[in-house]
Amino acid sequence: MEKIMECFKEEAENWDKKFLHGSLGLEFISTKEKEFVDAAFREDRMHRSILDVGIGTGRFSGILKEKSLGIYGLDLSEKMLKQTRTTLGKDARLVLGNAESMPFKNECFDGLVCMRVFQYFGNPKKAMEEFSRVCKTNSLIVFSICNKNSLLGLGRMISNVFKSKCTGWIDVAKLYAFKEIRKELMKSNIVIIGTGNITRIPLQAYIRVDNKTVLNIFKIVEKLADFMLGRNILYNSSILLCRKK
Ligand SMILES: C[S@@+](CC[C@H](N)C(=O)[O-])C[C@H]1O[C@@H](n2cnc3c(N)ncnc32)[C@H](O)[C@@H]1O
Repeated sequence: MEKIMECFKEEAENWDKKFLHGSLGLEFISTKEKEFVDAAFREDRMHRSILDVGIGTGRFSGILKEKSLGIYGLDLSEKMLKQTRTTLGKDARLVLGNAESMPFKNECFDGLVCMRVFQYFGNPKKAMEEFSRVCKTNSLIVFSICNKNSLLGLGRMISNVFKSKCTGWIDVAKLYAFKEIRKELMKSNIVIIGTGNITRIPLQAYIRVDNKTVLNIFKIVEKLADFMLGRNILYNSSILLCRKK
């Protein structure tokens, strides 16, 4: 946990510039994620309150604001929340806390988003129980996971063999198999109603893409992989669209 806090403390001020808009490749991934969250909540009813778990710098706040009467943000990092407060102003209801033991009452939200955070949970089962506890019945829960069965997973296996040193937030991210998450979600009364896949080529490669031609080549490779492998295999990250039973 300290390691994760340290990583995000160091990166807070430059987070958006470096990891969301740092290159054309990163913009592409962020836009895909935003489109998915936007569509998921657009098709649902109007929400009274949506919780953004691990809100970071409030990337989804614009989207969520249109779909709810109130958005709440929870984050472990004071520095990230400080950044978010500057962007969102005094309307933001931001709370410092841990997703694995949330400082909220039972069933107080009717929507929850948790993007690019699950991979940092020390106890993911507890986090899923917490998602379920703070959400009302029928709430929409949208969160992303990093897949073990991917090029990212393969890269991790190789670096483990060579015992290369962990250096930053990408290295501390934990990878999961879709099946194991689905099983645990069911125990927490959460059912998966849809999935969205982001990219097969790892984020580490997209970080370096800052040229339209190269990005177009990446897009073609992603499409070809879809065609050859089917739509659900070998994605580095997936977004799970779920409902609390
Ligand atoms: C990669 S950033 C993602 C931010 C935002 N969700 C987005 O997609 O732009 C991960 C964020 O999750 C926060 N975080 C990590 N572990 C957490 C936990 N256990 N509880 C609450 N926040 C956590 C970090 O402090 C960081 O702000």
